[in-house]
This record gives sequence, C-alpha cells and structure tokens, in this order.
Amino acid sequence: MKLLPKILLGLVALAALTALGGMTYLNVTYPKVKPAENIKIDLTSQRLARGKYLTENVCDCFGCHSPHDMTHFGAPIFEEKKGQGGFLFDHKLMGLPGNIYSRNITPYKLKDWSDGEIVRALRTGVSKDGSALFNLMPYQQFAALSQEDIYSIVAYLRSLKPVAYDPPSTQLDFPINFIIKTVPQDAGAYPAIPDKKNILEYGRYLTNAALCAACHTPVDDHGNGLPGMDFAGGMEFELPKGGTLRTANITPDKTGIGEWSKEFFIKRFRLGKQMTTAQTPVQENQMNTFMPWAAYGEMTDEDLGAIYEYLHNQVKPVKHQVEKFTPYLAQVAR
Ligand code: HEC
Ligand code: HEC
Repeated sequence: MKLLPKILLGLVALAALTALGGMTYLNVTYPKVKPAENIKIDLTSQRLARGKYLTENVCDCFGCHSPHDMTHFGAPIFEEKKGQGGFLFDHKLMGLPGNIYSRNITPYKLKDWSDGEIVRALRTGVSKDGSALFNLMPYQQFAALSQEDIYSIVAYLRSLKPVAYDPPSTQLDFPINFIIKTVPQDAGAYPAIPDKKNILEYGRYLTNAALCAACHTPVDDHGNGLPGMDFAGGMEFELPKGGTLRTANITPDKTGIGEWSKEFFIKRFRLGKQMTTAQTPVQENQMNTFMPWAAYGEMTDEDLGAIYEYLHNQVKPVKHQVEKFTPYLAQVAR
C-alpha cells in the first residue's frame, strides 16, 4: 500500500474512533441534571382545580399527548384516549428530525413515578430513567411556571383516568439522537407568578405557558426561531387529508391582529371552541386546524385579555401576510 492511502486510512479510522468515543462519552455523561427532588405533593382541591385549568386549557398538554380526530374541524382529541400519548410528530407533519411520539401521561404510565420525577420531566426534560426528552416537549417553557403551578399540574395528572396504552418509542435521526442528550439543564429557582394587576407581565407568563410562540414563531431547519419573526406566523403543517396549514400572524401589525379589539380577540376563542365542538366533518383537501381552539376557548376572559394585552403592547409588529391554508391541488397547479 502506498504511503498516502495508508495515512488517509489511518485518519479515517482515527476519526471513526474519536466519534465512537465521543458518543460513548455523551451516553455516559449526559444529560447532566440533578437527581429528582424528594418531594410529596399534596392533592388539595385548590391544586386539582388549578391543575385541571392549566393542563387542559392553558398548557394544552392533551393537545400533544392524545391522538386527534383529523376527520373533524378543529382536530378534536378523542376524549376516552386523553393523555394516552402516541401522537406522531415527524418530518412529514412539520419537518422534525425523526419520529417523535408523545408519551402516556395518565397514571397507567406515571403511577410508578415519584412526584419529583414528574417535576423533573416537566422542568428539565429528563425522563424517569434519566434519558433526555426531545425538546418538542416544552420543558424549557414550563421551567418558567411557578412552583405552585407545576405542583398543581402534577396533582391533576395523578387524578386522571388511567388509559392502558403503550405508544411506540421515539426514534431520532443521527446526529440529533446524540446531540439531544446535551440539551436538558437544571431549571433553577421557580419564578413567582406575576400579580394580575401587572397585566403585561401576567400576560407574558400566560403566553409562555400557553406556548403561543411554539407554533406562531416560524423556525429554521434547526428549530430556532427566525430572527425578527417572533409571533409573525407561517409555521407549516402538512395535513393528513391534504394541503398545507400555516399559523397566523399574531403580532400587532395590520397583517396580524393589529386591528383586533380585545373583545373580538376573546370572542374569536369562544367561536373557535364552538366550531370544534360542533364536530363538522372535514373533506379531503379541506382546511383543518391545529390551533388548540377547544382548549384555549375555555380560558377566562381575564387570562385571554392578558394575553391580548401582552401581544398588543410587548410584541413587535411584523408585516407578514400569511395564507393560512393551501389545498394540495393548488400546490400542484403552481
Ligand atoms: C408540543 C407538544 C407537547 C406539549 C404541549 C406537552 N408535551 Fe409532554 N411530551 C411531548 C413529547 C413529544 C414527549 C416525548 C418526547 C420524546 O419522546 O423524546 C413528551 C414527554 C412528556 C413526559 C415524559 C414521559 C415519559 O414517559 O418519559 C411527561 C411527564 C410529559 N410530557 C408531560 C407533559 C405535561 C404535563 C404537559 C402539559 C403541562 C405536556 N407534557 C405538554 C410533547 C408535548
Ligand atoms: C399547536 C399550534 C398552535 C398553538 C400552540 C397556538 N396556535 Fe394560534 N393558530 C395556529 C394555527 C395553525 C392557526 C391558523 C389556523 C386557524 O386560524 O385556526 C392559528 C391561528 C391563530 C389566530 C388567528 C385566528 C384568525 O381568525 O385569523 C390567533 C389570533 C391565534 N392563533 C392566537 C394564538 C394564541 C394567542 C396562542 C397561545 C395562547 C396560540 N394561537 C397558540 C396554531 C397554534
């Protein structure tokens, strides 16, 4: 063998070994977070009520952790499968690096978890067995919830009807399956919930908890928000019955919600809920939506109003006309 190919071969082998070593290192050392806290969360009636509101109507946990009926407008969840997990987020739906299945969060799965382990999953993105959760699970946002709000969510999860179902496991593409292990971090101290009188801060807290940016801020191929496009809409979903759905511009520009009054904003959520509970069939290639109208439609006037105030006064107006739905045939014709 000539010298040059020999050296090249050596280099390739070295690179492979280094990569292998790196992966083993990642596997053994990450995620690097503290062990779950040893806590016992009391299931007070106040916590159960607050937890129900947050879980069902603000954080919309079931929107991700339940299968959806795509044959009806508003993609309602199947009530009897609430929390069982198994909803598939993948490349086809929204360009994600792998097949990511939400997990069962009913007591069927969580009964063996300690309260501290559930809190750690919600705030740092580490599962009971110490593995990293893909950060589609919004733990980075939930880390900004108050201690009482997190405890209330855990209390409510304990009270759910167990649904016996084991979802398929998540498979991430290389190299994300390794990189993801380095993402979870200790969440730090709990923030306090802002006083309702401070409506902009209170609105910011709720807008974060309700994950509006997660769908309304468009992202690049790495899942990072496009600069200058906060809440400007245009994130795409491929609908299973055909066509592309895009999120709306919810900045205070004319092309967004700039000309909406607070009353109209609140009414729009009530209407969205009605349209979802009406169980209207959706034909092939007709618009459907993933906007969680049914969930948010039950938020209080005060909370929806605070979100409106935050979006109107703290978010930069962005001129961005979004076509919310393009049927498949129109795409082919272009
Ligand atoms: C945007 C979608 C989304 C929302 C909203 C969401 N989750 Fe998740 N969650 C996921 C996905 C996806 C996973 C699994 C990630 C993976 O497989 O790596 C997950 C994982 C979990 C886990 C870990 C379960 C296990 O077996 O490891 C828990 C617990 C959990 N979520 C609870 C919640 C709760 C409670 C809420 C609401 C406060 C919530 N999630 C909201 C998508 C979501
Ligand atoms: C799971 C993704 C998702 C989340 C989370 C989400 N949205 Fe949306 N939203 C959409 C989609 C998709 C549309 C466009 C289709 C439609 O109008 O239903 C939309 C549309 C809207 C509209 C426009 C309605 C209209 O009549 O033009 C408003 C206002 C809105 N969302 C506000 C919000 C607010 C406020 C939040 C947080 C409380 C939020 N959204 C969270 C997906 C989402």
